[in-house]
Amino acid sequence: MDFKDLVQKRRSIRKFTDEPVSEDQLRTILRAGLMAPTGHGQRGWQFVVVDNRQVLTAISQCREAGSEFVKGAAVAIAVCYDTSVSDVWIEDASIAAVTMQYQATDLGLGSCWCQVRARSNAENVSASATIKQLLGLADNIEVECVLGIGHPAIERKLQDEEKLNWDCVKK
Ligand SMILES: Cc1cc2nc3c(=O)[nH]c(=O)nc-3n(C[C@H](O)[C@H](O)[C@H](O)COP(=O)(O)O)c2cc1C
Repeated sequence: MDFKDLVQKRRSIRKFTDEPVSEDQLRTILRAGLMAPTGHGQRGWQFVVVDNRQVLTAISQCREAGSEFVKGAAVAIAVCYDTSVSDVWIEDASIAAVTMQYQATDLGLGSCWCQVRARSNAENVSASATIKQLLGLADNIEVECVLGIGHPAIERKLQDEEKLNWDCVKK
């Protein structure tokens, strides 16, 4: 797909069919994440793939709201980072996450970002602590987000070009 079309086509998808995401598709998505730019060229990400239904369901409960869709995803990628290697880990993790989302779109898949960092559930348990425990992550590994990925069960409209703000200032 032409990049101009790809950026317009990517929309958050929170409903998925039962069709699995193939190993090839998954590798292509992870490869895209590994190509993402990073501050100082540090590459402290850890992308943890989850396809176990019980774990997906547990992840979907890490927040009071906003994480439910993960339960129905074919697969999730927890976008984690070794915070000891970079002070811009949030930026690095976010850029890798969105790069993987564009790759998923290009493969005809749908995805949505579930925010984990700085979020908690109704009992005030941090979403990050929940995911770290579920995935057995070390203390120095933080979780930025979880991407739920699968074959879209709904169609979303293309991004509305009318909403773009073209108020460019030249000096
Ligand atoms: C930093 C960030 C955090 C987000 N967190 C969530 C989330 O926790 N749950 C969710 O359903 N969507 C989440 N989203 C998806 C946004 O709601 C979505 O991108 C936005 O509404 C625009 O819609 P679009 O992606 O279809 O263009 C998040 C997106 C970003 C970039």
